Amino acid sequence: MSDLRLPKAGIIEVVPSILSADFAQLADELAVIESAGVSMVHLDIMDGHFVPNITIGPPVVAKLRQHSKLFFDCHLMISEPDKYIEHFVEAGANHITFHIEVVDEPQKLIDKLHKLGCTAGICVNPDTPVQRIEKIAPLCDMVLVMTVHPGFGAQKFMSEVAKKVIKVRKIVGPDIRVEVDGGINPQNTPTVVSYGADTLVAGNAIFAKTDRIAAINAIRDAAK
Ligand code: DX5
Ligand code: ZN
Repeated sequence: MSDLRLPKAGIIEVVPSILSADFAQLADELAVIESAGVSMVHLDIMDGHFVPNITIGPPVVAKLRQHSKLFFDCHLMISEPDKYIEHFVEAGANHITFHIEVVDEPQKLIDKLHKLGCTAGICVNPDTPVQRIEKIAPLCDMVLVMTVHPGFGAQKFMSEVAKKVIKVRKIVGPDIRVEVDGGINPQNTPTVVSYGADTLVAGNAIFAKTDRIAAINAIRDAAK
């Protein structure tokens, strides 16, 4: 268990997703974003089953943990989250988001995460209605609304889908974080913030730029 805490809801956090970073230089990439003053990093975990792509597992998370004091926001795009949660927490995950599409008893998973000392998140895919998480969302620490179909970075932001954030914010109130993920950039940031998102995941908009710090600041400025 670590001392890192999920920042209080309502304060805008830009959360770089390392999916678009240089995977051969991850420790350096983390150091750069840490120097930009971010407090969280988004780790996309894909299993080649729930999504058609494969990324990293607990051993890589554990190695990254040795190089970073950032809050690890782990987004599990995997078919059997229950099977792997302990491993990710042990590896150093501070927050774990699982997808409602693959879980029958979400409350059990949320309780398990809390018992493990990890904050809990639930995620809805673009095609999944917000009603699916209506009851469970208030039990989470953060709710994630996908604004692209999960699996790959650098996809186009789905503006109609982003409106789901308004419903989610209404359900959870002001004290739970609402995160958006997929195609976030300085241009659409004012929109998602006006809908009620306070946690802005960005991969391509940061790591496709040579100056990652300037790219983070551009999103921060757009959120003001
Ligand atoms: C997509 C991932 C995202 C992705 C976002 O499946 O969940 O976290 O890295 O990347 P961008 O910002 O490039 O859409
Ligand atoms: Zn993600």
